[in-house]
Amino acid sequence: MPPYAYHNKKFMPLEEAKVGILTHALHYGTACFEGIRGNWNQEQKQLLIFRAKEHYDRLLLSCRIMRIKLPYSAKELCDITVQLVAKSGYKEDVYIRPLAYKSSEKIGVRLHDIEDNFLVIVSTLAAYLDTDKGVRCCISSWRRVDDNMIPARGKITGIYVNSALAKSEALERGFDEAILLTHDGHISEGSGENVFIVINNKLITPPSTDNILLGITRDTVMRVAQSDLGLDVVERSVDRSELYTCDEAFFTGTAAHVTPITEIDERPVGNGKIGPITGKLQKLYFQIIQGKNPKYREWCTPVSY
Ligand SMILES: Cc1ncc(COP(=O)(O)O)c(C=O)c1O
Repeated sequence: MPPYAYHNKKFMPLEEAKVGILTHALHYGTACFEGIRGNWNQEQKQLLIFRAKEHYDRLLLSCRIMRIKLPYSAKELCDITVQLVAKSGYKEDVYIRPLAYKSSEKIGVRLHDIEDNFLVIVSTLAAYLDTDKGVRCCISSWRRVDDNMIPARGKITGIYVNSALAKSEALERGFDEAILLTHDGHISEGSGENVFIVINNKLITPPSTDNILLGITRDTVMRVAQSDLGLDVVERSVDRSELYTCDEAFFTGTAAHVTPITEIDERPVGNGKIGPITGKLQKLYFQIIQGKNPKYREWCTPVSY
C-alpha cells in the first residue's frame, strides 16, 4: 500500500504532494509536527488511531509557540486524519505524521508575516527501538535545548537537530539511544522518548520543567501505572547517578512504545534484564493501543473504510 497524504486541503498519493524549495520551514526549521500511531486490531479487523485528539491538542500548542495559525480545531484535524487513513486503505499498523509549517517561499528568518500550511502523511513504520530485548543507552555529550532557547514542550522541527546530533553520536558509539541532560545536569529525555526510572516500586520521571516534550505515551503510562498497578508516580528532577543505580528504567514514545533500558553508560540497569514493572506496563500498553482493554477503549478512534 503506498503512503498517502493530505496537502493543500486535498487527499493524494504521497508522490503528488510537493513543496517549493524556498519554503520557509525547509530553511529555518519553522514547523511543528506530530507522530501518531494507528494500530491494526486483527480480531476486530479495525484500524484504531491512538489518542488522536491529544496529539492534535499538542500540535495546536506547538503552533501557538511558533505563531502558526491553522484554520482547524483539534476535532477537525482528527476528522481529516480519519478520512486520510480510510482513503489510504491500510489494513496494518500505520504511522501518521501531521506537519504544520511556515509555507511562504521567502528568504528571511522570523515567525511573523509568513503564511502557514498544514499536511498529514500516513505510511508504515519499521520497528523503532527493540521493545523485546531492550536498549543500551549513553548519556549524550549534547545538552537538551532549554526553554529559553527553543521550547521543548513544542514539537518543533528545528529542535530535532538537537535530537539528531545526540542520536547519531549514540549510534556511532555503539549504543542504541542517547539520553540528554538539561543545562544544569538533570536527566531530560531521549532523542525521541521520555524516560522513566523505577526505585523501590515507585515510578519517577522528569517534570515538564526539565525541557521535555510532554509525551502522550508518558501520560498513558503514568495513568495506567497509578490506576491499574496501584503504583506511586512522581514527577521530579532525576540525577544522572539515579539512572546508574535505579531498579528499572524505560523509554516511552509513540514510535518507541514502552522500551526497556537495560544498560546505561556500560552499567547494567538492575540485573540487566527487563524489570517486572516495565514488563507489566509494556503488556498493558500494547493491549490498550490495540483496543483490547475496554477501560481505555475511548482512546482509540476507529477508521471506517
Ligand atoms: C523529544 C521527544 N520526547 C518524547 C517523545 C514522546 O512523545 P509521545 O509519547 O507523545 O510520542 C517524543 C515523540 O514524539 C519526542 O520526539
